[in-house]
Amino acid sequence: MGLVIALNKGRIFKECLPLLAACQIQPSEDPDRSRKLIFDSVSGGHKLIVTRSADVPTYVENGVADIGITGKDTILEYGESMSFYERLDLKIGQCKMMTAGPVGVAEPEHVLRVASKFVNITRKYYQAQSRQVSLIKLSGAMEIAPLLGLADCIVDIVDTGNTLRANGLEERETICDISTRLIVNRASMKTKFDEVQALIAKLSAVVDAIGEEALGNNDQAGQ
Ligand code: PRP
Repeated sequence: MGLVIALNKGRIFKECLPLLAACQIQPSEDPDRSRKLIFDSVSGGHKLIVTRSADVPTYVENGVADIGITGKDTILEYGESMSFYERLDLKIGQCKMMTAGPVGVAEPEHVLRVASKFVNITRKYYQAQSRQVSLIKLSGAMEIAPLLGLADCIVDIVDTGNTLRANGLEERETICDISTRLIVNRASMKTKFDEVQALIAKLSAVVDAIGEEALGNNDQAGQ
């Protein structure tokens, strides 16, 4: 029957291609050389939809895609009230959702002004602490908000920390760990059970093998 798989554009798509290739799912054209956003697979009758991260949960919930591959940040921000199964941690795109503020600057007395594009994650985080904050929704480049006096701190993804450092910010609190996850449409889990389970099993084995190889490399480096 073939599966329809929706993936984030950009880094997640690039990092997922080798994992999918190891499961014999390869786009029929080179995505780097094409403006297409839907690719047939070379074999197996699968389709790959390349979309914006925020739309992956929507495609999966509505059954346009059987499978979605996207960051935990996207699932928490856009998919919390949606209905789908989160079935596998692909252990790529690992980073943290954090609060960050200007280096050495104490929190202000007034109500904290927090800038983020992750407004739902931010709201929930401060609500859980019973802290009243003023939320400022931005679409990106949150790091400049404290510099420009728009906000006291930000909530954003931190990987290497280079972006924070380059903008005079420091890590404050960790909200949660982030990595790329595989989600499944509820109906597809029944109607395409065998194919969905087979893909999850294969991907899971690939992810474990990569993890074991990395462990082996670390052991060798430590000897
Ligand atoms: C993310 C995030 C930070 C940066 C953190 O942005 O929003 O800006 O990466 O990475 P670092 O800790 O390694 O510096 P991304 O490049 O994914 O683009 P975006 O702003 O469009 O989300």
